[in-house]
Amino acid sequence: MTEPYYQDELVTLFHGDCLELDAWLGADVLVTDPPYGTQFSADNPKGGYGRRQNAGLGPEGFTIANDGTTETRDAALALWGEKPALVFGSPRLPDPPGQWADRLVWDKKRPGMNGGPWRYRHESIYVTAGFVRTSNASVSILTAFPEQSDHIHAKPLGLMEALVETAPPGTIADPFAGSGTTLVAAAHLGRRAIGVELEERYCELLAKRLSQQTFDFDWGDAS
Ligand SMILES: C[S@@+](CC[C@H](N)C(=O)[O-])C[C@H]1O[C@@H](n2cnc3c(N)ncnc32)[C@H](O)[C@@H]1O
Repeated sequence: MTEPYYQDELVTLFHGDCLELDAWLGADVLVTDPPYGTQFSADNPKGGYGRRQNAGLGPEGFTIANDGTTETRDAALALWGEKPALVFGSPRLPDPPGQWADRLVWDKKRPGMNGGPWRYRHESIYVTAGFVRTSNASVSILTAFPEQSDHIHAKPLGLMEALVETAPPGTIADPFAGSGTTLVAAAHLGRRAIGVELEERYCELLAKRLSQQTFDFDWGDAS
């Protein structure tokens, strides 16, 4: 059995390929931000993208593994089956395979001046039945920049907390953990989570991020 790369009271992280590791499949609810298939891959001559604040990551920091097609995402969704799921995707591509109850929109509130007036400024979030909306809060990608400079496609923590809050009970799985925003959000909400990440540099980042968290657990009358 593969040993976790990182583990604490709530979060377990595995380094490897989620199509080969199966620990995450034992969780109850999928909340994931997979490679969309929008070709931010090193093997795509037009691929890769970046923001100035990610420049310190080097050329490999501008790509997402397995983003050349939707194959890896679709294979992971097939392994997951029909349990509750929330999956990010690109509004520019066909819907991911699955029985989706709704498609939410993350309006990044990116102003037109950043890349022209028609620059794409929203992403899709597919949800199955079982997720219950708890707030109308929205999260601007601009205010989230400072917390997401270590992974080119990191999601804002506030956004992931708002989404994890809507999830049905049980352990959260994120087989495409990246810098771990889903896992950190779950832990902040006192929920167990299992993640998998292919690239060790992100596992390292994630382990550091998780070990720096302070949790305010209610240990009952132990004091
Ligand atoms: C869109 S990013 C996730 C970003 C994350 N939501 C965050 O906030 O940092 C997708 C991640 O999936 C990882 N990945 C791609 N293929 C994978 C695979 N087969 N198994 C595990 N992780 C994979 C990539 O390395 C990348 O970090």
